[in-house]
Amino acid sequence: METIHNVFFKNSSDMCELNSESVDLMITSPPYPMIEMWDLLFSSLNDEIKEAFEEKDGKRAFNLIHKELDKVWIEVTRVLKPGGIACVNIGDATRTIGKNFQLFPNHVKITTSFLNYGFNELPSILWRKPTNSPNKFLGSGVLPPNAYVTLEHEYILIFRKGDVKRVIVPKSEKRYNSAFFWEERNKWFSDIWDDMGGISQKLHTKSTTPNKLRERSAAFPLGLAYRLINMFSIYGDVILDPFWGTGTTSLAAMVSARNSIGYELKSEFIDLFKKRIEELKQLNTDINNKRLNRHVKFINKYKKEVKDPKYKSNHYEFPVITKQEINLLLYSVKNHCENRNKFILNHEKFLFNSRIDY
Ligand SMILES: C[S@@+](CC[C@H](N)C(=O)[O-])C[C@H]1O[C@@H](n2cnc3c(N)ncnc32)[C@H](O)[C@@H]1O
Repeated sequence: METIHNVFFKNSSDMCELNSESVDLMITSPPYPMIEMWDLLFSSLNDEIKEAFEEKDGKRAFNLIHKELDKVWIEVTRVLKPGGIACVNIGDATRTIGKNFQLFPNHVKITTSFLNYGFNELPSILWRKPTNSPNKFLGSGVLPPNAYVTLEHEYILIFRKGDVKRVIVPKSEKRYNSAFFWEERNKWFSDIWDDMGGISQKLHTKSTTPNKLRERSAAFPLGLAYRLINMFSIYGDVILDPFWGTGTTSLAAMVSARNSIGYELKSEFIDLFKKRIEELKQLNTDINNKRLNRHVKFINKYKKEVKDPKYKSNHYEFPVITKQEINLLLYSVKNHCENRNKFILNHEKFLFNSRIDY
């Protein structure tokens, strides 16, 4: 199987390279409005935003910034197929402007925009970033009543374009190959995720990744994009990230054998992305082995504590719980080539040698 991954270094408020209704799934994390690290970027897009900050008018800046993001959401609406899913990773912001401390509810603004553009909202996910800081409450003091709650979660807002679900050819082989395990379903489709970080931490601690550039990118964990892709798309689908950053969504699409398209203002991120895909094959093998080994462990426990599973996988040796899982198939990257920010990958069936008996 072949997949193609394109990156365009330009503003995603105009995605003229893409046909209308050509994208199956969007996964993105925009710069968070009212988080200081993005003030300059938003101010460069619109002078009025700069003025609002200079005048310490937080509410005006907040509204104007969301108007900039809306330009991208309008383009997303155009390029997404009917029934296609849009996942937006967003955090609210707390900030003192002048003497006024307040919350800027980004997730409310974005939800309102998507509803206005004809999307239906689906149940969203809250996820917690792993944090070990013992000092996170310092500064808020221990006296009532003027301490503030600390924000420790982010949202993954999930929307469907239009009123009708995406239509897939009945009995589509690709769809059945794209199945996830029963036990994964129970975990992935929970509205609270507190296990993000595993895959991405491994990736991000590599010494080849320049820290400063990564900090400026505010990348989300690879595991987050990987999970969403596997929940809401099938093999061969096209995944769009209009705020591409260091290309985490494309990387996740690559290891999931989906196509991807990214838009990003800062072309310097391409070098970081190229560094990231140097380890693509190994990353793909690690992710697949981790999933399949975890499944084998789960099956052994299930056998012991519940009963013998009824079904057996058609592509691997292990049992599965439901009939829908029997054609589940993972791919690994065989080779890849690059030409002017276009990456072409070949994928082959992933062969699994379990380290555990079942
Ligand atoms: C929060 S970061 C995305 C990080 C990304 N998810 C990752 O894992 O690296 C947001 C990115 O959007 C880019 N950006 C902001 N506005 C944009 C626009 N209108 N068009 C394209 N890229 C934009 C910024 O340069 C920044 O790299």
